[in-house]
Amino acid sequence: MITVEQAIVGRQSIRAYLDKPVARATVERILTTAGRAPSGSNIQPWRVYVVEGAVKDALCADLTARHARGEEGKREYNYYPVKWRDPYLARRRETGWGLYSLLGITRDDKAGMSAQARQNFSFFGAPVGLIITMDRDMEQGSWLDTGMFIQSVMIAARGEGLETCPQAAFCQYHQVIQERLAIPADQQVICGMALGYGDPEAVINRFRTSRIQLSEFVTWVSS
Ligand SMILES: Cc1cc2nc3c(=O)[nH]c(=O)nc-3n(C[C@H](O)[C@H](O)[C@H](O)COP(=O)(O)O)c2cc1C
Repeated sequence: MITVEQAIVGRQSIRAYLDKPVARATVERILTTAGRAPSGSNIQPWRVYVVEGAVKDALCADLTARHARGEEGKREYNYYPVKWRDPYLARRRETGWGLYSLLGITRDDKAGMSAQARQNFSFFGAPVGLIITMDRDMEQGSWLDTGMFIQSVMIAARGEGLETCPQAAFCQYHQVIQERLAIPADQQVICGMALGYGDPEAVINRFRTSRIQLSEFVTWVSS
């Protein structure tokens, strides 16, 4: 059993997976555990579509082809600031360039960057894909609740020896996803997530992001 600290600190976004199936009972345990996430008035606004097998393959093939031919879908919500500024821009750049340089993708290699981004649409080779949705009429509090649920899924997965990568990339093709998975129109795609056994040999999985110091985000207010 790993400790809570190991589960949280050892989690990282994993972008290459072993070709090893994940038992349905394991996915159910992870989602049952994550379902204990708190939510205001216990309304539990999150919903999850578990995508596997032929349905996943067809979805991935469709989205990958769309991305390859430059078809840009329209996102329903802004995940990022409309206008980037520091310190967020600098952190974003550090993360992006860190990942690309590990893979030998240079700053002028647009095709290389695009090919790497396209890996999102095969869930980075993970055997299980999750699509997380929420009823469209929910308010900002439910976004908080669903965020906590999403982190809980990632931590519960670690408890089962599994790894994840949360994926907002799917949001741009939300219409295609809704149609293929028969997600009702009154639900909104919040994000996707790759779930599986991480490939320890994959170079991309060596990427470890930095974090800011406590002093940069904590203010002690005391006498
Ligand atoms: C809601 C959410 C959406 C994300 N979307 C993507 C994505 O589409 N593709 C991707 O490769 N990483 C995605 N990430 C992963 C972040 O880049 C990653 O969490 C961040 O760089 C910190 O690295 P770490 O997860 O390894 O600690 C997403 C993370 C979150 C929380």
